[in-house]
Amino acid sequence: MIRFQEVSKVFPDGFKALDNITFHIDEGELFVLIGPSGCGKTTTMKMINRLIEPTKGKIWIADKDISKENPVELRRSIGYVIQHIGLLPHMTIGENVALVPKLKKMDAAKYQKRVDELLSLVGLDPSIYRDRYPAELSGGQQQRVGVIRALAAEPPIILMDEPFSALDPISREQLQDELIRLQQEIKKTIVFVTHDMDEALKIADRICIMQKGKVVQLDSPEHVLRHPANDFVRSFIGEERLNAAGVLPDIEEVMLKPVTAGPNRGLAESIKLMHKHRVDSLLVTGANDAFLGIAKVWDIQQHYREEELTLKDIMTIDVPTIQIGRSLAEAIELISENKVAYLPVLSDEEKLVGVITRASLVDVMANKYGNA
Ligand SMILES: Nc1ncnc2c1ncn2[C@@H]1O[C@H](COP(=O)(O)OP(=O)(O)OP(=O)(O)O)[C@@H](O)[C@H]1O
Ligand SMILES: [Mg+2]
Repeated sequence: MIRFQEVSKVFPDGFKALDNITFHIDEGELFVLIGPSGCGKTTTMKMINRLIEPTKGKIWIADKDISKENPVELRRSIGYVIQHIGLLPHMTIGENVALVPKLKKMDAAKYQKRVDELLSLVGLDPSIYRDRYPAELSGGQQQRVGVIRALAAEPPIILMDEPFSALDPISREQLQDELIRLQQEIKKTIVFVTHDMDEALKIADRICIMQKGKVVQLDSPEHVLRHPANDFVRSFIGEERLNAAGVLPDIEEVMLKPVTAGPNRGLAESIKLMHKHRVDSLLVTGANDAFLGIAKVWDIQQHYREEELTLKDIMTIDVPTIQIGRSLAEAIELISENKVAYLPVLSDEEKLVGVITRASLVDVMANKYGNA
C-alpha cells in the first residue's frame, strides 16, 4: 500500500534525518513507527502526505509515485492526527469532524449521519457533544474528536503522530482500546507514531523500530519481543518486558525423532511400521535424509488394494515445514494456521531432523504453565 524506496532526508542545515530507508506498509495494517526522540519518525510520516519531500528516493502509495501527485488532493485522501489535535476553536465539534467531507463535497445528509455515528463510536453522545465547541471538551475528549475527524472522510490511509501522548494513562488506554476496536471495523491503513513501547506492542500489527534515521527492526510485536534485532532494540524494549513475555524452549528441545520410511516402501509394509511405532503418519525421506513428504494412514488405506503403489505415489508433498533455527512460537503458529498434526523440522540443507507434533506442544505448555 505504502512503499518507501531508499528514502533519505537531508534538511537544509545539512542534518541527515533519514538515511536510506526502505520498507512497505500493507493495506489494512496498523503500522507503528517507534524510536527515541529525534530518530526520524515524524519526518517519515510527513513524507507520506508530502508535508516533507525526500532528498533522495521514492515513496509509492498504491503503486503511484506520490511525487507526481497533487499534494492537496493527496492530503485529502489521507487522514492526519497529531499530538495536539488542533481542532478549529470557532467551529463546533460536528463542524470540525465534517470538515474534510465538506471540502470533498460529499453528500451533506450522509456525512452528518456519519459524524453522529463516529461520535457515538468513541463514546461521545452526539446529542450532547455535536454542537459544543472544542474548549468545552476535556483533553481526552478533544483527542477522540481528532481521531474521528481523521476518519470522517473515510480516507484509505490515516497518519497518527503520537495522538495519545498528551493524555493521562487511563484515557490513553481507553483510546488505544477504541482504536483497536475501530480498526477491526474500518480496516484502514494506519501509520501510528509513538515512543511508548507498551502502546506499540498493544496496538501494532507490525512495529518499525527506528534509530538515527535508520530502520533497525521491522517485525510483529511477538517477533520483536522474542527476537530483538540487537542490543539497542533489547534496551529499548527493556528486560522487564522481555522477561514478562516468557521464553519458550527452542524447537530442538521439543521436537521428536520422526518415524521415517523411504519413497519406495510398499503400503502393507508401511502400515506395519506405523503400527509398530503407534503413529498415523510416516515422514518420507530420500537420500541423505532429504524430506520428501508425509504419508498418512488414511491415504494408504484408500489405495491399499493397488499393490504396485509405494509411498511416493500416495504421500502428500505440499506440507508446511519449519527450519531448525526458527522459534517454537512460529512452529505453533504454523501448526494452528494450517491445522496440521505434524510439522517436519528441516535443517538448512532441507534434511529432515525431527518432527513437532501437537502432542509434543501440549507437553511443553503443560511444563511451562502447568501445575494444573
Ligand atoms: N526542518 C528541520 N530542519 C532541520 N532539522 C530538522 C528539521 N525537522 C526535523 N529535524 C531534525 O531531524 C531529526 C528527526 O526529526 P523528527 O521530527 O522526525 O524526529 P521524531 O523521531 O519524530 O522525534 P520525536 O519523538 O521527538 O517527535 C531531529 O534530529 C530533528 O531535529
Ligand atoms: Mg515526532
